Amino acid sequence: MAAGIDDIAIYIPRLYIDATDFAEARGLDPVKLQKGLGVSQMAIVDANQDPACLAANACLRIMQKNKLSPEDIGRLYVSTESAFDESKAMNSYVIGMLEQVYGQGAFEHCGGIETKFACVSGSYALYDNTNWIRADEADGKSALVVVSDIAKYDMGSSGEMTQGAGAVVMLLNENPRLMEFDPKVTSTSIKDEYDFYRPFGKETPIVHGQYSNLLYMIQVRKALDAYKKKAISTGLIKIEPGETILDHMDYINMHLPYSNMGKKALAYMVRHEWRQLPRWKTILQEIGLDEPVPQDPRGTIESVLSDADFMAKDHEFTKLFSKTPEFQEVYESKLASSLIASSMIGNLYTASLYLGFRSSLEFEYQKGIDLEGKRIGFGSYGSGASAMVFSGVIQPEYKEIVKDMNLEAEIGNRKRLTWEEYEKLHENKVDIAESMVHTKKEFVLIDVKTETESKGERRYVFNE
Ligand code: CAA
Repeated sequence: MAAGIDDIAIYIPRLYIDATDFAEARGLDPVKLQKGLGVSQMAIVDANQDPACLAANACLRIMQKNKLSPEDIGRLYVSTESAFDESKAMNSYVIGMLEQVYGQGAFEHCGGIETKFACVSGSYALYDNTNWIRADEADGKSALVVVSDIAKYDMGSSGEMTQGAGAVVMLLNENPRLMEFDPKVTSTSIKDEYDFYRPFGKETPIVHGQYSNLLYMIQVRKALDAYKKKAISTGLIKIEPGETILDHMDYINMHLPYSNMGKKALAYMVRHEWRQLPRWKTILQEIGLDEPVPQDPRGTIESVLSDADFMAKDHEFTKLFSKTPEFQEVYESKLASSLIASSMIGNLYTASLYLGFRSSLEFEYQKGIDLEGKRIGFGSYGSGASAMVFSGVIQPEYKEIVKDMNLEAEIGNRKRLTWEEYEKLHENKVDIAESMVHTKKEFVLIDVKTETESKGERRYVFNE
């Protein structure tokens, strides 16, 4: 049985910090954020928002848009790395909120869990729910997979430039109008690592930034190698001499902790794939340098990162490689449109890959490109660390969905935070009752209990 994404909706909080304000306050060159990282604005949650209400708002949008009733939904999964409870799963909060609109008990038989593996868990949730449908267990119902996160880093840390918040929900079923997943090719890689993690009770992660960048690329490359083997052995893709697996992906969506990470990761994968091909000779001639090799080519990530000579040469080589017309063509045609939303909104952890997919659909469609039959490759990464590579094909009915996509309208009017407002929100010094925007028809948090017997209980309302 076929299965895939029928529709997709987003919810982005209405507050943001602008990259120029951020850079000024932190004494940074704004060009580092805007051009170096590809960050223009970072969405910030209001005092009355948490990842559960972001997720519920996204779910309500997709249900109302598709005139779905609770009986149409057999499963609701929430994937997040911003969990606020060690036991009670976030999908239960989302169902509680949705039942304020659809009626008490309306989702009584809607199964689901919260999934966790840093930014990759949404991809595992999509895969598991796709297989629930493929196994004919869904009884004609659809699944909702929501990826929802608040990417918040310590004040003054290097990660603070790569914050953001928001939720993306995907409606999965057996007749997807948007994209059908390719069967039997989804591939993973996993390794016990500490590149980025958030110990119990800590609101912000512990991050080894450059280590995490390199680990991301290595793990995705390993998952891509495994995907390639499966794609060939299942007969999904036939790679002719002189071609690479990437030639068979019309679009590539990467996990985007910041927009430029997508370009960095694409360059890394393309180098890896092209190195074995006749075309590599031409590229090396254009660059005018040999490809640098670390002093210890079989060394650890630490040894590579501490090899200053190699790192400097590799940085230079990557820069020149990224400017070659051959790479530029791949970048512009397969990746660039997916980065637009990320630079306006920032890091969404689990949701950033899918915001990129959503961005790519809207902005490629606006170019007048016919997307039907195009294969989309996904490179998902979660710190700690696991990567997943998979693909899908855009379906004939996709225009029904994509023609109405309008990122700016869906984000809505936003308020640009002053530095003082940002600092107060970051330090959790704004009371829930003092929230800054009062948007109608949205779920908001109104209380988190502090009494011993009910500590941590959360109350939400739907703002009529
Ligand atoms: N003008 C133009 N460009 C500039 C510049 C300037 N004045 N100053 C620096 N730049 C460029 C740099 O050359 C660099 O570009 P390249 O990578 O193309 O060389 C870019 O801006 C960033 O500069 P640095 O690498 O010096 O930045 P940094 O070390 O201060 O911080 C970071 C970057 C490590 C990503 C940091 O923001 C961080 O720790 N972020 C959180 C961790 C993260 O996002 N990791 C990504 C992989 S892990 C993951 O993906 C999971 C997840 O979601 C977190």
